[in-house]
This record gives sequence, C-alpha cells and structure tokens, in this order.
Amino acid sequence: MECNVLYPALEIQEKVRGLADQIMEFYAGKSVVAVCVLKGAVVFFSDLVRQMPDLDLELDFVRLSSYQDATESSGKVVFSKDIEIDIEGKHVLIIEDIVDSGRTMMFLTDVFKARKPASVRICSLIDKTERRVQGDLKVDFSCFSLQKGFVVGYGLDYAEKYRHLPDLCVLTF
Ligand code: IMP
Ligand code: MG
Repeated sequence: MECNVLYPALEIQEKVRGLADQIMEFYAGKSVVAVCVLKGAVVFFSDLVRQMPDLDLELDFVRLSSYQDATESSGKVVFSKDIEIDIEGKHVLIIEDIVDSGRTMMFLTDVFKARKPASVRICSLIDKTERRVQGDLKVDFSCFSLQKGFVVGYGLDYAEKYRHLPDLCVLTF
C-alpha cells in the first residue's frame, strides 16, 4: 500500500481559511448550528470553526457510518450518535470529511429536515463526484473537488488508520 501527498497541510490551511470567509459572509447576522460528522470531519471541523469567530455558532456532533473498514460503500447508513441541540428554526451546517456516493449526507439531511430547521446545508472538505448516486444532493461548500481516488489523512481514515496525518494523501492499493 502506498500513501502519497495530494494536498499538503499548508494548502489545506489556506483553503479552509478561504472557505471560512465564504461561510461567514453567507451566514452573516444569522445563528448557525455546525454539526460535525464523526469521526472523519473532526480535524476539518476544528480548524474551520476556529476561523469563523464572527459567526453566532453552536457546535454539535453526530456519528454515522456507511463504510465498514472498506473502501466500498455498503449503501447502508448507521446513525449511532445524534446531536443534542434542538435545531427547529435554526440554520444547520453539516460539516463532513468527504461526500462520495452521497448516501450518508442524503440520510442525514432527511433526518434533520424532518426537525423543521430554518435551513440545512452541507460543507464537505472534499467533494468526490464520480460515484455520486444521489443526483439531487448538493454540496454547498467544499475545499477540494475530486473525481476519484481513496484519500486519507487530515481526519480521513482507511480502517481507522491515517486520521492523524497533517496532509491529505492518496492511498494506492
Ligand atoms: P457516501 O455515503 O458514499 O457519500 O460516503 C461518505 C463516507 O464514506 C465519508 O463520510 C467517508 O467516511 C467515507 N469515504 C468515502 N470516500 C472516502 C475516501 O476517499 N477516504 C476515506 N473515507 C472515504
Ligand atoms: Mg465520514
């Protein structure tokens, strides 16, 4: 297995800063609940929210899984930890590591929309487009767009490894 740097830490930092500015501008004057999708988004989430001091922000966490230690999606989403904040009437921004088929985000946005929030939007570090099956799923904010490839580091894992790497790397099997 080979692990090659795709986006180095410095480039990620710049992208995250730019995205934070975009998000702050978009939600200016509004209250937002930022929801981190554990575990993959935790590093991105931590960097991103700290770049948005001007936003009226509440933080919460969900834990979902659709990949069971593999690189292929099983198509099934498991909801194992819910948020604790009541999102009714609030603007929800979901922070995800990578959107691939789109099934995970479709599941989560459907669950959240049933709770009558003011809005639900998706912010993903990486928008991976090739295997998207949920055609109407829109990634509202993202740092990087990728056609294909399996990426690890900066929170993203392969069988729970590599999450702590500072760079985003491509894993070759
Ligand atoms: P989706 O439901 O197919 O969009 O799957 C999204 C989830 O699969 C992400 O939250 C990741 O946990 C995982 N995933 C998809 N592609 C990759 C990748 O390239 N590296 C690491 N995890 C990935
Ligand atoms: Mg994930």
